[in-house]
Amino acid sequence: MELNENVRGRLRQILELIYEKEIAASVRNHDRIPYTADENGHFDDWTERDVCWWTNGFWAGLLWQLYAYRQNDFLRLAAEGIERKLDRNLMTAHGMDHDSGFRWLMTSGADYRITKSEKSRNRLLLAASDLAGRFNPAGNFIRAWNDDGGKNAGWAIIDCMMNLPLLYFASEELHDPRFRHIAVRHAQTAMKYFVREDGSCCHIVVFDPETGEFIESLGGQGIGVGSAWTRGQSWGLYGFTLSYMHTSRAEFLAAAEKIANYYIAHIPSSGLIPVDFWQDASCDFEDDTSAAIASCGLIELYKITGKEEYLDAALKMIFALAESRCEFSPDRDELLTHCSAAYHERRHNFPIIYGDYYFTEAVMKLLGCETFLW
Ligand code: GLY
Repeated sequence: MELNENVRGRLRQILELIYEKEIAASVRNHDRIPYTADENGHFDDWTERDVCWWTNGFWAGLLWQLYAYRQNDFLRLAAEGIERKLDRNLMTAHGMDHDSGFRWLMTSGADYRITKSEKSRNRLLLAASDLAGRFNPAGNFIRAWNDDGGKNAGWAIIDCMMNLPLLYFASEELHDPRFRHIAVRHAQTAMKYFVREDGSCCHIVVFDPETGEFIESLGGQGIGVGSAWTRGQSWGLYGFTLSYMHTSRAEFLAAAEKIANYYIAHIPSSGLIPVDFWQDASCDFEDDTSAAIASCGLIELYKITGKEEYLDAALKMIFALAESRCEFSPDRDELLTHCSAAYHERRHNFPIIYGDYYFTEAVMKLLGCETFLW
């Protein structure tokens, strides 16, 4: 990618800081599966707390990215350990959900791409089959979450767009379009019911699971019905971009650009992203994860379309994070500091592991040294 020398230099420095930091963190945490870090900068561990938690692949994904970059075996061994631990998830029916792409593309997908491990390929295909099995043909959507007594059997969420690459992978690997057909049909449903006229996206859509009829949309992790939860915008932005990259269908590129234009129009002058674009200016809830995920999508959109505004927006957010929201000290585990799981949760502005993953992916993408895992 054509970047001026000053920008490239700053990005190289950032990547160097990340590399040194993550080496130190992987030595301290080689047997952990982190989600967040405490106030002393120590990762937590979800191995026993919930081995089926949806974010359990991201630390491994980050380690694999850096392993592919510099081949430090310590990083690979830590990532392989997490992948093996997730076999307990793969064998727990009620622990499998719409987020299998997040978990297995970041672990087994990276392992298979980099080492050609047959065990990893097997895990990927099992996870893809489970994800495909969640497709509801009456409404053409992949259902979200699991049985809660029938109440959410017709729920779908925008996040799921990011899991479709697992289905594209299975179709390519097995020379069989079935998985891709499901991904395309889900993405078309999402285009119709999640992406609004102004380019913003809703988080949850409820369908009648028997007839497939649209019932309503819900506010989910954002402020409320009709609002623009920023991570949801990022899942849609990057998710539709990925569906375009895997299928070359112009409709998905159009959806991705529509969301991107909405997102860019709402980036604050600071370049730091709130939890919901609807939130009051006096509210200080931030979500660095949204900025990092959107940056990845915008960089890919720039590569596809050549439109400078996508690259400019990504650089603005990445440098804003690097300058004021990154903890580069190798003595602390967390990288991004101001993430939020949901607007209505009590806790805000804390480290979340997938923010670290997507921030690193975005920096490596800009420098052309990323391993593409989607
Ligand atoms: N996939 C759930 C979230 O973005 O919080």
